[in-house]
Amino acid sequence: SDVRLWGGRFADGPAEALAKLSASVHFDWRLAPYDIAGSRAHARVLTKAGLLTDDELARMTEGLDSLESAVADGSFTGTIADEDVHTALERGLLERLGPDLGGKLRAGRSRNDQVATLFRMYLRDHARIIGGLVAELQDALVGLAEAHPDVAMPGRTHLQHAQPVLFAHHVLAHAQSLSRDAERLRQWDERTAVSPYGSGALAGSSLGLDPEAVAADLGFERGSVANSIDGTASRDFVAEFAFITAMIGVNLSRIAEEIIIIWNTKEFSFVTLHDAFSTGSSIMPQKKNPDIAELARGKSGRLIGNLTGLMATLKALPLAYNRDLQEDKEPVFDSCDQLEILLPAFTGMMATLTVNRERMEELAPAGFSLATDIAEWLVKQGVPFRVAHEVAGECVKVCEQEGIELDELTDEQFAKISAHLTPEVRTVLNVPGALASRDGRGGTAPSAVAVQLAEVKADLVTQ
Ligand code: ARG
Repeated sequence: SDVRLWGGRFADGPAEALAKLSASVHFDWRLAPYDIAGSRAHARVLTKAGLLTDDELARMTEGLDSLESAVADGSFTGTIADEDVHTALERGLLERLGPDLGGKLRAGRSRNDQVATLFRMYLRDHARIIGGLVAELQDALVGLAEAHPDVAMPGRTHLQHAQPVLFAHHVLAHAQSLSRDAERLRQWDERTAVSPYGSGALAGSSLGLDPEAVAADLGFERGSVANSIDGTASRDFVAEFAFITAMIGVNLSRIAEEIIIIWNTKEFSFVTLHDAFSTGSSIMPQKKNPDIAELARGKSGRLIGNLTGLMATLKALPLAYNRDLQEDKEPVFDSCDQLEILLPAFTGMMATLTVNRERMEELAPAGFSLATDIAEWLVKQGVPFRVAHEVAGECVKVCEQEGIELDELTDEQFAKISAHLTPEVRTVLNVPGALASRDGRGGTAPSAVAVQLAEVKADLVTQ
């Protein structure tokens, strides 16, 4: 028999080429459990509206239960002839309940409001899963910071030595961006907690159904949509989800490129990867490669592509539903899949990282990274910063000429550069002093970083 939901006015069935093009069941099948939940809620409002008897509701619910377990154990699946998940599940219901009862459920709903609702439900579940995985990565970063509270390293701008910072300070900077990603997911979820069910194809329903009851049933805390046209046609919730997942990808990629790929080189030697989280070479026996980090970097491009592809699909679409919108699912399904595979591996890699303290601390003062400390010391002696900057720059110039570091300048050399440079300047020409002096909120002093660490940990508990 014809499984199509729209055969009535057609003399012929669809051409095979059309059926192939039209089918989405191979990728929207993952919405099946949500579709069944939606059907249960819909059956209840049909009953409330007097369109199903209590007995019919009971049999309908039984049919949906049976269909649900058949979907779960794989004994019922959609086929290409079903077009999409909604059509397939209607076939399953008809097979169980017969056409008289099975055919009643479609009253007052359309695949347009169904798919808009189910897609929100699916993405809300995965926002929670991804949020949990991000929290685990944050935990790993917090663990790294906690295990190395006093390790100094060269802080960089333009990848050049800038000023010494605490390794923990640097690692927590990455944790901060992930905190914002987690917050973005929570705020997105709040915005997305509105149900389009009851919008019908676009205009709402004449059957006296109760969209607010369906919304409550399906866990949409903020009720049903205010506008049925918007409910069926808007996909900004998908685009925003794609952005957040792309942003997470970009943030992972930045950690990957820096802490793992660059710092793990022979030249840097700041960190060593655990064997279980690195890979070898098929030809070079000595190789130990940071493949997880490289896959994170690569996948971030893919996540960005999912976002931009989706935006291009949405651009200039007239209201309300257009079939173009069937292209909205694969990109974000992929974004979920990729992050859900990537994050656990990435977290394992970060949690098992070995930090080479000696190497970091050896390089912390190199590259004249304490020049700013000379300038700020001079400011404290009453020297205008303009002059102080010049004087400290002069110190660097002399060091470069002589091939020495700042703390190797003699008292005479200091005095010759500026009368303000008394031997007391040496008190700030060491890394622990430079770190400890930056003790304002957000600074790199161990005391300030300890405050930040406590804040990040508290934030993780309340997430
Ligand atoms: N499978 C479609 C989608 O994912 C929903 C079906 C709506 N089809 C239609 N002809 N109105 O967007």
